[in-house]
Amino acid sequence: MSFNGKVVWITGASSGIGEALALQLSELGAKIVLSARNIEALENVAQRCKNETFIVPLDLSTSASLDVKVNDVISHFGKIDILVNNGGISQRGLAAETAIEIDRKIMEVNYFGNIALTKALLPYFQKQQNGKIVVISSLSGKFGFFLRSAYAASKFALVGFYESLRLEEEKNNISVHLVFPGFIKTNISQNAVNSDGKAHEKLDENQDKGISPELCAQKLIKRNSEIIEE
Ligand SMILES: NC(=O)c1ccc[n+]([C@@H]2O[C@H](COP(=O)([O-])OP(=O)(O)OC[C@H]3O[C@@H](n4cnc5c(N)ncnc54)[C@H](OP(=O)(O)O)[C@@H]3O)[C@@H](O)[C@H]2O)c1
Repeated sequence: MSFNGKVVWITGASSGIGEALALQLSELGAKIVLSARNIEALENVAQRCKNETFIVPLDLSTSASLDVKVNDVISHFGKIDILVNNGGISQRGLAAETAIEIDRKIMEVNYFGNIALTKALLPYFQKQQNGKIVVISSLSGKFGFFLRSAYAASKFALVGFYESLRLEEEKNNISVHLVFPGFIKTNISQNAVNSDGKAHEKLDENQDKGISPELCAQKLIKRNSEIIEE
């Protein structure tokens, strides 16, 4: 398996699955573009990466200036090989009690922000006639679950978008890979928004019993190695 020299852009790289992926791919020789909002946390991840990194602060709730960010990365590393659309927020609130603004906020981050970055990168991937897009959906992108109506909707929406994109972009040698993790012990439940739009701030039992983000990243790299690498 060789990720040596590959440029991998990871969103949500400041913690959890994204952080673990960044550290492990960097160990395998990849150059990592680290994106999220928390710059201090990204710097901390960058310091622990074994290979070159480039920090691109990114708020997925505002899809502005993404083409500028794509150009910044290409100017810095000369190319982009793989985009890992991982950044996202979860939800812990009953549909009946959740204001529509909260539903929109979750969709904005998990769906619109996600696909906006892909759309900004697509012309570049089309031009180089090569590129891989990895999308972290969820088991909630396969079936709905208690307290996660908007989250599940956003993860289902990603499936519809990216399955279509996969068909459209095959001719341009751009591959699309959807991932559906189960429970991973990250800060996702603490950071999840409740029906008031505030952070849930609790480690849920299911999350606590989940596999580590390091093991998740390992499995992701192993299972996707033949599709992530050429
Ligand atoms: N943990 C699980 O059990 C599980 C299961 C299935 C799927 N997933 C998915 O895995 C992905 C990673 O989650 P995780 O479990 O690693 O949780 P996490 O530790 O909370 O990580 C979430 C990441 O997303 C970033 N993020 C959140 N809001 C953002 C925004 N508005 N703009 C840019 N970045 C934002 C966070 O960075 P900043 O706060 O610094 O912006 C953080 O790096 C998510 O898409 C999640 O839905 C997780």
